Amino acid sequence: MAKSASFSCTACGAVYSKWSGRCDACGEWNTIVEDTPLSTGPGSKSLGAKRGTSLTLTDLSAEETPPPRTQSGITELDRVLGGGMVPASAILVGGDPGIGKSTLLLQAAARFSGAGLKTIYVSGEEASAQVRMRAQRLGLGDAPVKLAAATSLRDILTTLEAEKPDLVVIDSIQTVWADNVDSAPGSVSQVRAAAHELTSFAKRKGASVILVGHVTKEGQIAGPRVVEHMVDTVLYFEGERGHQFRILRSVKNRFGPADEIGVFEMTGGGLAEVSNPSELFLSGRGDPAPGSVVFAGIEGTRPVLVEMQALVAPTPHSQPRRAVVGWDGARLAMILAVLEARCGIPFAGLDVYLNVAGGIKISEPAADLAVAAALLSAREDSSLPAETVVFGEISLSGALRPVGQTENRLKEAQKLGFTSAIVPAGGKPGGKSGLTLTQLGDLTAFVGDIFGAG
Ligand code: TYD
Ligand code: MG
Repeated sequence: MAKSASFSCTACGAVYSKWSGRCDACGEWNTIVEDTPLSTGPGSKSLGAKRGTSLTLTDLSAEETPPPRTQSGITELDRVLGGGMVPASAILVGGDPGIGKSTLLLQAAARFSGAGLKTIYVSGEEASAQVRMRAQRLGLGDAPVKLAAATSLRDILTTLEAEKPDLVVIDSIQTVWADNVDSAPGSVSQVRAAAHELTSFAKRKGASVILVGHVTKEGQIAGPRVVEHMVDTVLYFEGERGHQFRILRSVKNRFGPADEIGVFEMTGGGLAEVSNPSELFLSGRGDPAPGSVVFAGIEGTRPVLVEMQALVAPTPHSQPRRAVVGWDGARLAMILAVLEARCGIPFAGLDVYLNVAGGIKISEPAADLAVAAALLSAREDSSLPAETVVFGEISLSGALRPVGQTENRLKEAQKLGFTSAIVPAGGKPGGKSGLTLTQLGDLTAFVGDIFGAG
């Protein structure tokens, strides 16, 4: 019996046993096509006799030269890219509208062009005059960057084929529009088609392509996640609008470590590099106050000290509030539960607010103990000893677990004038940091030792 045909949606990949006009999964029209099995040669049962070529297989031990990289000279950016930009790579830079993506990429384009790369900046959102004005305001008016304001994918590709640039910035991928795709600009299929064409251009011609993508709330426009799997490197530009700090974070990088961060400050003259982020994040910190604890964290390869702030107050509502900025809400709930179940410290009837100062987002479990310390300090209305940093992971049993890179964390703390640290027992502090260490085995000991409670 012949195997029944299968159909799939070209927009979302949903599989169907029969053709239909509209995909139930993504709602797109006319995207369902029959899947034809690929023929591999005369021996294969499927249609057609076109034969593939055998691949040359190599060993894992074959010689590999590291890719040549171009540095922009913006150290924070180069580090996030893994030490500079690799030719023929596709990079996605995502972020909220207005966070500074265009500013960053205009500065990067200017620096890369200065480093010898033939650079084209295509803006689909602003007129060339606007981009030029911004460049002049940033003092980049003389950089040999070529500008174009365009949204047609066909025109963009035709220009790129003729100009043969080394670097192309597309600002933004959501404005690029392919005339062979039958849906509105900014839709998932448009964004996907544009990203596919541009990344294959990068691979084919050896040019690097940087795609800007706006992070969107659920809505008409497809977010950058749609193209994450097509590109080599995914960077997100984050920060709080009200703050001047901006963090460029690599969430995927085929040519370097993921989770690396670059820190910038938005100034009147564009984005300025911040080479010592701890200083910046701790600036404006006053005398030790209840609810404030300094966490010695690691972001990528770099130690970063940040202030965790907690506020605990009796709730006027039947359901107490739990609000978190810069950390994971589920993790906060877990720590509150551990404090209650293992240390007998209830937070029922109390509103809990947690904020990571400076607008940075922390995702390390190593921040658990600092969060617990901030919560306890706020609840007991008593400050931690001055000049103390805290880090360590908390398990559900209430045990404190050592975390990686203890020594780097302690060194950074010492560099910034801290004199003591509260850390889990069993880590490898190395003893060279010069800080007074309080090593604790579980959360109950922490509560007893530090707050004399529990
Ligand atoms: P922009 O790069 O246009 O953001 P995006 O491309 O991510 O939407 O930056 C917009 C904000 O940055 C805008 O509100 C003004 C601010 N800004 C400065 O503060 N200083 C500057 O030098 C520039 C160019 C922008
Ligand atoms: Mg922009």
